[in-house]
Amino acid sequence: MITIKNEREIELMRHAGMLVSKMHKFIKPYIKEGITTKELDRLCEKFILDNDAIPTEKGYEGYPASICASVNETVVHGIPNNYKLKNGDIITIDVVIGYKGYQGDAAWTYKVGDISNEKEYLMEHTEKALYEGIKQVKPGNRIGDISNAVEVYAKAHNLGVVEELCGHGIGTNMHEDPDVPNFGKPGTGPRLKPGMVICIEPMLTYGKRYVYMLDDGWTINTRDHLPAAHYEHTVLVTEDGYEILTPRLD
Ligand code: MF3
Ligand code: CO
Repeated sequence: MITIKNEREIELMRHAGMLVSKMHKFIKPYIKEGITTKELDRLCEKFILDNDAIPTEKGYEGYPASICASVNETVVHGIPNNYKLKNGDIITIDVVIGYKGYQGDAAWTYKVGDISNEKEYLMEHTEKALYEGIKQVKPGNRIGDISNAVEVYAKAHNLGVVEELCGHGIGTNMHEDPDVPNFGKPGTGPRLKPGMVICIEPMLTYGKRYVYMLDDGWTINTRDHLPAAHYEHTVLVTEDGYEILTPRLD
């Protein structure tokens, strides 16, 4: 069931989304050579708790941390650990924050020092693919319009589209209906209505699209070990288009 949020709920989701944005802005200066992903997780968790909010990922289906920290060939769900970031890495920080029961969810990929032209290209066009998807958000359009826009943009830039994972509705739960795939046909799928809130999150790869899960049961890596990027916004369908509830503050 796809829920329609009322004004009060939308206000709470704006607050949750703004905390997600603020946490990303807070953590960015720490993303430097030498810091471990576990230290990033600790800093983020403290930021969330200090803002009277909930790190929703922690304990979700047994997930052990407050953020996902996915480095280089890791597409999503990298578990923070003792790995020290090094010059040339890219890292996606993905976080879900709960405020008075309502959730905000956003991911961006960050660079560590100087990165290769290939990684620059991957980051630039994964973020642009996200905005291509967001541009399709308006009442009357369908989920497939978003999916197709992301797919067409990604493929035009020769990037792999991971098919095993997708975006989703969001509200009091981090994952609600509908699924928001990153590939599909225009004019298909559920119709968008004002008050729906969805997460659009292209996960694109520099090489082939194939992925596998590590034995930890979470980490998803590219099979060819080439890098992946992931950008995600929580987006509200408005009367005449959309509102990004997790705006970038940097
Ligand atoms: N934030 C992720 C998403 O976009 C989900 C995180 S899974 C978790 O859907 F286990 F880390 F919570
Ligand atoms: Co999400």
